[in-house]
Parts: sequence; C-alpha cells; structure tokens
Amino acid sequence: MIYNFLFLVATIPVALAHDNGLGLTPQMGWNSWNKYGCNISANDIISAATSIKEKGLLDLGYEYIVMDDCWALKTRDPVTKQIVPDPSKFPNGIKNLSDSIHDMGFKWGMYSSAGKYTCAGYPGSLDYEEIDATTFASWGVDYLKYDNCYNQGRSGTPSESFKRYEVMSKALNSTGRPIFYSLCQWGEDGPWNWASTIANSWRISGDIYDNFNRYDDRCPCESFQCIGLQGFDCSVMNIIRKALPLSQKARDRDGWNDLDSLEVGNGGMTYDEYVTHFTVWAILKSPLMLGNDVSAMSDQDLSIVSNRDLITINQDRGTQPAYSKWTKNYGDSIIILLSGELSNGDWVVALVNGASQQLTYNISMTDVFIDNRIYAEKRWVARDLWTNETSSVNNFIISNVKPHGTQVWRFSKSS
Ligand SMILES: *[C@@H]1O[C@H](CO)[C@@H](O)[C@H](O)[C@H]1NC(C)=O
Ligand SMILES: *[C@@H]1O[C@H](CO)[C@@H](O)[C@H](O)[C@H]1NC(C)=O
Ligand SMILES: *[C@@H]1O[C@H](CO)[C@@H](O)[C@H](O)[C@H]1NC(C)=O
Ligand SMILES: *[C@@H]1O[C@H](CO)[C@@H](O)[C@H](O)[C@H]1NC(C)=O
Ligand SMILES: *[C@@H]1O[C@H](CO)[C@@H](O)[C@H](O)[C@H]1NC(C)=O
Repeated sequence: MIYNFLFLVATIPVALAHDNGLGLTPQMGWNSWNKYGCNISANDIISAATSIKEKGLLDLGYEYIVMDDCWALKTRDPVTKQIVPDPSKFPNGIKNLSDSIHDMGFKWGMYSSAGKYTCAGYPGSLDYEEIDATTFASWGVDYLKYDNCYNQGRSGTPSESFKRYEVMSKALNSTGRPIFYSLCQWGEDGPWNWASTIANSWRISGDIYDNFNRYDDRCPCESFQCIGLQGFDCSVMNIIRKALPLSQKARDRDGWNDLDSLEVGNGGMTYDEYVTHFTVWAILKSPLMLGNDVSAMSDQDLSIVSNRDLITINQDRGTQPAYSKWTKNYGDSIIILLSGELSNGDWVVALVNGASQQLTYNISMTDVFIDNRIYAEKRWVARDLWTNETSSVNNFIISNVKPHGTQVWRFSKSS
C-alpha cells in the first residue's frame, strides 16, 4: 500500500501556477490604448518609448512597451494565414520595431483577441493560436495582451473561458520563448479562480475611463460578483470597489489582478484623484502600465508615477496585495482602510477618501491589524509616502485626507 501511495503522489499532476518564469512581480510598462486608441504607428511607439526612457521611467521599472489593437490589416495572408501588419503604420515591419524597442532596453509587447476579431475588428487569434504565437515569437514579442471580443459564444462558464485561453497559453509555451501572458477578459467568468495556471495576470473589470467616480451605463457592473455585461468606461472608484475582495486571489508564482492601464497624465482627473488611482493600483499589486503621452506629461503627473516608495511596495517580492480592512459610507461616497504586510516586516497602510468632502479620521491600530492583533499594540514609525513626513504611532493615527485623495504610509517598527 505504501508503495502505491508514493507512486500516486509522484505522478498525479499538481496544479502549478503558470510556469514561464515571468510575473513574479506585477508587470510595469506602457500600453498604447488609453491615449492613442487605433491611431498608432511605428513612429508613435518609438517616440513613446524614447520619452519613457528620457524621463527616467525605464530605470524605475516601466520596462514593457505594449502596442494594443489596430496594428494589422483586416485580413490574414491568404497563403500563410498569418496576421499581416499594416504597412502604412509599420513601413519596416514589426520585427524592425521590436528590434528598435529592444535596442533601447525595453521589452516588447503586442495585442490580440481570443476571438474571431479583435475589439476594433482586425483578425483575432481564436483557432489560429499556434500560427499567431509562432509569428509573435519570431518578431521577438515578450508580452501578449489577449482580449475577449468576438469570442463566438465560447464563454459564459469558467471552464469554457479557461479552455479558450489555455490554447494560446500552450501555443506561447510551445514557441520556447518566455512571453508574459496578460489576459484581458474583463473579469468575465471569474478568471481570478482559474487563470493562475495558464496566465501571469488577468483583468478584473471592463476598460478603465479617465474619470474618478462617474457612473456610466456602459459599465453597469458595480461588483466583481456581477455576472454578464462587464462593459467599458469604468471609473477608478468602480474598479477599486471590484478589486477590494480579490486581494486574496493574487500572489507571486500565481498571478496578478489587473485593474487596467493607468490614466495618470490623460487630464481627466485632479492631482488628488490621480494620487488615489496610483496608490491603490500600486498597493493592490496591479500591473502598473502607463497609458498616456509621456512626452506631454506635467511634472506633477510624472511625480505621481515616479513614486519610488509605492513602486517598491508594488514590486516587493513574496507579498500579497494589501487588504481592505473596512469600507464605510462617508459623505457622498465611501472611505476605505487598507493594510498589508511587506517582505521585511514593515506594513503599508492607506486611507482612501472616495467622497468629495475633506476627511479627518482617527484610525485605530486594532482595525489596521485586525488579523494580526499582536502588532496592534506595538509602536510604529509611520512615513507618509506622498509627503515623506514621519510620525510615531501608538494605538492610533489621525489621518487628514483631501476630497477624492488617499493618505498612505509605510509603517516600520519603532526602535
Ligand atoms: C513551458 O511550460 C513548462 C512546463 O510548465 C515550463 O517548464 C517551461 O518553462 C515553459 N516554457 C516557456 C518558454 O514558457
Ligand atoms: C493621430 O496621430 C497623429 C500622429 O501622432 C496625430 O498627428 C493626429 O492628430 C492623430 N489623430 C487623431 C484623430 O488623434
Ligand atoms: C529598421 O529598418 C530601417 C529601414 O530599413 C533600418 O534603417 C533600421 O536600421 C532598422 N532598425 C533595426 C533596429 O533593425
Ligand atoms: C483616537 O482614538 C483612540 C482610541 O482608539 C483614543 O484613545 C484617542 O484619544 C483618539 N485620539 C484623538 C485625537 O481623537
Ligand atoms: C524621506 O524620509 C526618509 C527618512 O524618514 C529619508 O531617508 C528619505 O531620504 C526621505 N526621502 C525624500 C525623498 O525626501
């Protein structure tokens, strides 16, 4: 019996996380969609990468340059069945662009859809996965954003979605080239429950919109539990509400909840709103993909996406996202207390003020450390990660948060 048992243990396939060696921390980079939509070309991509490098953002970790939808002709090559890059946008082809991006020190990412067409109506990769994966690998692609449009009804249950996305995962693996696999399934069929064995990250909502809290019928879901239409034009607060319960579903060697690309720099939000957007994305360990024209970015917006302390927390190896400890109604919206442990024993603590009134709040350490009571009575030094002011913490901390703003601290043990 004992031998049988050992034999079984050794041969039962264990459900391992997606094993392409990538995604040990959330991906960072730039994606063309939020700012440029379909209006892309090789020149635009090169100049975006040039600005990102010049502004020091590559050095901060923004390493993937990802070109989104609309790079192809509307029909595949009739002989090879490959997708054909639009020669008017890419006169020297995609390999040439990929080489240029690599020469600048970046990694190169592209886009397709697990559907008959991409969202903008270009050829999708459904049922062409092997051909397309091989093509991408031959172009030196390091990252694939994989959308969900025109999926031909092969969705609606987790197993249907899993099967459809697994085909591309295997095709990418077969190329022998490690390619970061970024699912863009908008949270349909709950990818946080099944995508970790086939992908490195998964979107949890419809597309982001450059607005803090505007309700929009095109983004009808208010919770991650919503079944059905995920929509688009989702505000920052809409996406935050969906993300809060999902912290438990993201970790290294597993994969990341993708709250969508950043809108910082696109002009639709105030400084304090972009601070909330960036802080929450960073501490929930969402991918940090810039989505703006970096060359035209104000110094103030640049300072937001350059916050080293928050990037360090986002990229801290071996830690999970911060958790929401409570959400309370306040004014015309909600306030949220988040906290999470970091790899060196420090903690990140944040108070998000979704409301349009100023907030003063006495935060109790029994709430911050609700699952780790032993820490609640310790003395901490709290450093504010936006002002760099420090204060000592003994059972409570008073927070002052601007309308739509967020205060975030790194707590270190007091010596
Ligand atoms: C392919 O998958 C195998 C098994 O999970 C893994 O060991 C290997 O590193 C993967 N290769 C690539 C290129 O992703
Ligand atoms: C498209 O991009 C080009 C070059 O960046 C720019 O001159 C043009 O204004 C853009 N068009 C639209 C409609 O945004
Ligand atoms: C891209 O193509 C152009 C035109 O043929 C060439 O001058 C350039 O060196 C190529 N760039 C790379 C990185 O191969
Ligand atoms: C904050 O709350 C604590 C109890 O958690 C209380 O002891 C303290 O006096 C309060 N501080 C202020 C300034 O209200
Ligand atoms: C922030 O404060 C810490 C010590 O509290 C100091 O080491 C660090 O240099 C400061 N950072 C900035 C940007 O001023």
